[in-house]
This record gives sequence, C-alpha cells and structure tokens, in this order.
Amino acid sequence: MRIKEILNTAAINSTITAEGWVKTKRELKGFSFIEISDGSTMNGLQVIIDGNLADYEAIIKKLNTGAAVTATGLVVESPGKGQRIELQAKAVTVHGEADPETYPLQKKRHSFEFLRTIGHLRGKTNTMGAVMRVRNACATAIHQFFQERGFIWAHTPIITASDCEGAGEMFAVTNFDLANPKRTKEGAVDYAEDFFGRPAYLTVSGQLEAEVMAMAFKDVYTFGPTFRAENSNTSRHLAEFWMVEPEMAFCDIVGDQDLAEEFLRYIFKYVLEACPEDMEFFNKRIDNSVLATAQNIIENEFARITYTEAIALLEKSNKTFEFPVEWGIDLQSEHERYLAEDLFKKPLIVSNYPKDIKAFYMRLNDDQKTVAAMDVLAPKIGEIIGGSQREERLDVLERRIQEMNIEAADLWWYLDLRRFGTVPHAGFGLGFERLVQFITGMGNIRDVIPFPRTPLNAEF
Ligand code: 4AD
Ligand code: MG
Repeated sequence: MRIKEILNTAAINSTITAEGWVKTKRELKGFSFIEISDGSTMNGLQVIIDGNLADYEAIIKKLNTGAAVTATGLVVESPGKGQRIELQAKAVTVHGEADPETYPLQKKRHSFEFLRTIGHLRGKTNTMGAVMRVRNACATAIHQFFQERGFIWAHTPIITASDCEGAGEMFAVTNFDLANPKRTKEGAVDYAEDFFGRPAYLTVSGQLEAEVMAMAFKDVYTFGPTFRAENSNTSRHLAEFWMVEPEMAFCDIVGDQDLAEEFLRYIFKYVLEACPEDMEFFNKRIDNSVLATAQNIIENEFARITYTEAIALLEKSNKTFEFPVEWGIDLQSEHERYLAEDLFKKPLIVSNYPKDIKAFYMRLNDDQKTVAAMDVLAPKIGEIIGGSQREERLDVLERRIQEMNIEAADLWWYLDLRRFGTVPHAGFGLGFERLVQFITGMGNIRDVIPFPRTPLNAEF
C-alpha cells in the first residue's frame, strides 16, 4: 500500500506494511517516532517504534532522515492532531541508510537554487513532491479532456527536417564526427552523407505533422517534448519543454479560442479535485493567490481583444516599458503581464497579430496586414498558449512562403495538404511547464520539470 492509501483507508487494528523514506525522527524515552513518506502524498505516515523491539538501539541509529525503510505493524488511531492514524511497528527493516554527515537534505527548508544543484535528490522535498503530483494531474487532465472529446493522440516525430516556427532555433541531429564531418569536393559539410541524408533537427513543434494527422482524423492532439536552442535565461524558458498541441479540421480562430479557454478551465478544475492538499500547500507556502486564481479561471470568462486593441491599451497605460510600444512590435513579457495581471486581472486572449511577427502558416486576414493568430496571456506568466487558424489556401500560402524566403521545396508535403481536401483548420500549443507554473505559482520554470534543460545545464 502506498502511504496515501494507508492514511486515507487503512482500517484501525489492521496489520499493514508501509514502505518509504524517513523524513524525521524523534527519539523519546523508551520509544521513537519516525515519519515516512513515499511521494504519494504531502503527508507522511507516523510510525511508533517501541523500545522493546528486537535490536531497537541498532535500528534507531540507522533510521536517519533519508533512510529507506519497511515497517510492518498495527494501525492505531492517532492521538496527535492532523492525522487519522499511525502505525505501531512490530518489525522494521532498514534497507539503505543516509549518513546525516553527508546527506544534503537535512534542513526543513532549502532554497530552490540550492535544490537545483542536487536535482537527483530534490524530488524528495515537500515542494518538489507537490509540483510533480500536480504536474502528473495536469497531464492526466489533458489526456482526459481530449479523449472525452474524441481527439486522437497523434505521436509526432522528435527528429524533423523542418523548422515549424521559422525562428532558426533548432538543435542539429547528426552522427557525423563533428571534428571531421564528411565534406563535398568544394569543402562544405556534405549532409547527403549524414545519417538522414539531409540536415535534421530536434523538433520545435509537432504542429506541421499534427496538421497532417488532422486532415485524416479531424481532431488530434500531440503531447510531447519540444526543443528550442534559444539562449534565453529567463524564469519561463527551457531548451527542452513539453508542449500540448491540438489541431482541428473544420475549425476557425473563434473555435480555437473557445477550445483553449474550455481546456484551461478543465485542467484547473481537475487539479483542484485531484490534488487539494498540494494546492493548499502552494497557496500557503509559495503564492497566496493560487487558489483564488484557480477559482477565477473556473468561474470567469477570459477577456478577448485584438492585437490592435492591445496596443491601444498599452499606449494609454502611462506606464514606461523597457520595450517601447507601437503597432507592429512583438508583445514582450512586460506588455503581456501588464495586460493580464494589472489591467484585466485574468487570462486574456489576444488575436489578429501583424503578419510580420508571426509564422508562415498563419491565415492571412482580409486586411492583408494581420494574421488569424491568438495567444492566451496569463497573469504572472505572460504567453501560455500560442495558436492560430492555419492558411488553408494554396495560393496564399505559397505567396507567404516566398515572401518569407522559406524553402518551399522542403514543404511539398505540407503544401499537398492544401491541394487535396483542404479545409479551414486551427490549433494551438500550450507550454506544459508554463501551465504547471501558472497553477502552482512556482516562480521558476526550472522547478516544475524534474530535469530542466537550460543553457549550460544538462547534468541531471
Ligand atoms: O507560441 P509557440 O512558439 O507556438 C508554436 O510552437 C505553435 N506551433 C503551436 C501551435 O499552434 N500548434 O509555442 C507554444 C507555447 C508558448 O505559448 C509557450 O507556452 C510554450 O509553448 N513555449 C515555451 N515553454 C518553455 N520554454 C520555451 N523556450 C518555450 N517556447 C514556447
Ligand atoms: Mg508564441
């Protein structure tokens, strides 16, 4: 039985076996208390070890914070506050000790910076435990949301030849010896001789392949790792992050926004029900607004404005921004946060951005200046979702590709989707770690993924 199950359901007077790691030990006269946890819940199980137990002294000496232990005994009502039961141990096995002189997790509280230097151990702390359980609940909610609506989970490739976002922030995939790659007669690197016979990269987005799948299955979604070689050392950027990308045929930009809003509301609701204790913990220890924010998301509609309206609001704001505001700029995180956090005080969907700051695949609006893009901006986070209606008209798409100097030949299969059964379609990408930050109130994205990949950091 996991400790969560024991705490919730184990019957008084039943004999059970509990397994976990020691969180704390208290030695009293004639007996000791240990609290053990196994990551299944915030709360540990209190185990009483009686002084009459065989080898009592030797066992207690080994039971330091971090030691792995199995305890079998009797479930009794707990006289202490805050817990239903405790375990009176009849047999205790210590599997692996943790030397108090060298085990780094001794203090009750450590800084997140310090915990990042011990990424292999930090999962045992209260905060990381709560983060990982909420992260797991988010992933479950995401699959449940789409499965309930008949979406097919499409597994798009991690290795790809195309730069979906056109930002050139790709990690190359090769099996060349980099010190000595095969070269053409002219001396250039000869990718024809490389593993895939062409330059290949880690994907920045599964969208193009999701569009392929949507043209066969109508509604699909991807959920997997994505990679961006952007050298951004911020609290919201990772080089490897997870993205959820639904793609819907027979759908326009409004349907896209509706789905995004319904989707976020569903996830928040699910997490509040699945992880009430962890959410209480975040509200108490990390950010005392997370429960109010969750309630706000569940109860209120998101605001919706156009990019042009957003620029007007920013210009009227009397705030000095680091990046000056004028029509045509890409919204910076300071602008996004002002709009969502200060002005609307709730998530905000901004649509119809200038075509020059967005990707080639977005549908050109009739004004010829803007595209049918939509970003969901969240308080404290800024952009959490980016999406659009896609350009389904072959001639317009070809013109855009040419204008943006993109190699059309490489996208022949993507253009084919516009030749054979093209239809209005739309989708979006949700940054999974930004979602977990939004829900938990965690300030740094490095602390909501077990093994963060950022510039100069890939140790564990
Ligand atoms: O806005 P982005 O670049 O959109 C796309 O990739 C589209 N192809 C999605 C689609 O329409 N199917 O990225 C989507 C989201 C962002 O809103 C952000 O939440 C997250 O992915 N994101 C990152 N999260 C962490 N670290 C990074 N470096 C991120 N870059 C984007
Ligand atoms: Mg974006």
